[in-house]
Amino acid sequence: MVDHASLSGKRVLLVIAGGIAAYKSLDLIRRLRERGVRVRAVLTEAGARFVTPLSVQALTEDTVYRDLWSLTDESEMGHIRLSREADLIVVAPATANLLARMAAGMADDLAATVLLATDKPVLVAPAMNVRMWEHPATQDNMTRLERRGVRRVGPNDGVMACNEFGPGRMAEPMEIIDAIAAHFAEAAHKPQADKPQAHTPLSGKRALVTSGPTHEPIDPVRYIANRSSGKQGHAIAEALARLGAAVTLVSGPTRLPDPPGCAVVAIETAREMLAACEAALPVDIAVCAAAVADWRVAGTSDRKLKKDGGGPPSLSLTENPDILATLSQAGPRRPALVIGFAAETGDVVAYATAKRARKGCDWIVANDVSLGTTTFGGADNTVHVIRADGAEAWPTMGKDAVGARLAEAIAAHFQTPTP
Ligand code: PMT
Repeated sequence: MVDHASLSGKRVLLVIAGGIAAYKSLDLIRRLRERGVRVRAVLTEAGARFVTPLSVQALTEDTVYRDLWSLTDESEMGHIRLSREADLIVVAPATANLLARMAAGMADDLAATVLLATDKPVLVAPAMNVRMWEHPATQDNMTRLERRGVRRVGPNDGVMACNEFGPGRMAEPMEIIDAIAAHFAEAAHKPQADKPQAHTPLSGKRALVTSGPTHEPIDPVRYIANRSSGKQGHAIAEALARLGAAVTLVSGPTRLPDPPGCAVVAIETAREMLAACEAALPVDIAVCAAAVADWRVAGTSDRKLKKDGGGPPSLSLTENPDILATLSQAGPRRPALVIGFAAETGDVVAYATAKRARKGCDWIVANDVSLGTTTFGGADNTVHVIRADGAEAWPTMGKDAVGARLAEAIAAHFQTPTP
């Protein structure tokens, strides 16, 4: 059994060519996404005869790329970017025709062009009639591709759609997922020099991320806190660093290890968090994922409060500074992109939209923290990303995957030329 943990946050570009096995690719997309993989799809003209672009679009929750000559697709997402923004290209089903075109280095449609232009690893899942698979031309093509480093899963033996028996059936979705997971596990253990060029679209950018709870003291031994674990903020910091940003992570008390590649500033209170954030300026990007206490105790006691028979002490609260609003309104020191979070317990999108306007940030990531959810402390998150032009619902995924997808969206924001 291959461990699938390494899949979360990975980006797969799935090329679906025209074969009866294309229907299995829909299941493959669903299962990959369940494991936190971001899937983008290229559908060949023949592929679109077996599965509808609408089904692929619904399952990937993304545009389906089909046409090398589409002005819209090429201007919004050039074929080079399609491969650049993937960690692995998977061709499933890989037909005899597409394998032949890959082996010959042809670039006569979007799928073949992406496969020719890419420097990313490629995994193919061949699917075809047994005689086509066993034909010396196909065997030759496959051998040439494997010599160039293309990896293969399947084909399996079995009864084919054409009622013949033998090798040619596409590997099952779970076998393909095992092969993908094995590839990433292997890549993670390869020496650094062997790794393909790192994908660092944020190099040269400075980012500030807040994470975790704050602790607001009552007396020397007691404090007011909340259930934030820091998982979401830390995952964002790590993902931004992976994309090349210089990240300062200002974190309240958590049990998490420092994310690799980040400078971590540990604080306890909201006021300390604000001071650390201001000290980190100037930055290009600020992401406020911390659950900052809105109030602190006014006039904390420097002696432990005692049960002296006079009844419970009354605590009076005073408002804490708002770090997100302060960064959003920092004048010339304002980061170019300020992103807040909104923890809501009802009407999530409406309240978060209002919060975005009130605090003055550019984007707000809304999550539901109602009773019964595990958004605070849990491993997964379901978010809406709200920008000036509306809200985008993301499917439930691991917090690492949310971090990876948010970091990609940030990178795309900085790559889009301003009009
Ligand atoms: O840490 P985890 O267990 O992984 O949980 C993640 C999370 C639920 C904490 C995270 O996804 C999240 O929602 N963080 C924001 C929590 C919050 O305080 O939300 P809010 O709606 O009260 O605040 C709105 C925004 O203002 C947030 O960006 C917050 O960081 C910021 N804020 C709030 C108060 C304050 N005094 N200063 C602030 O900067």
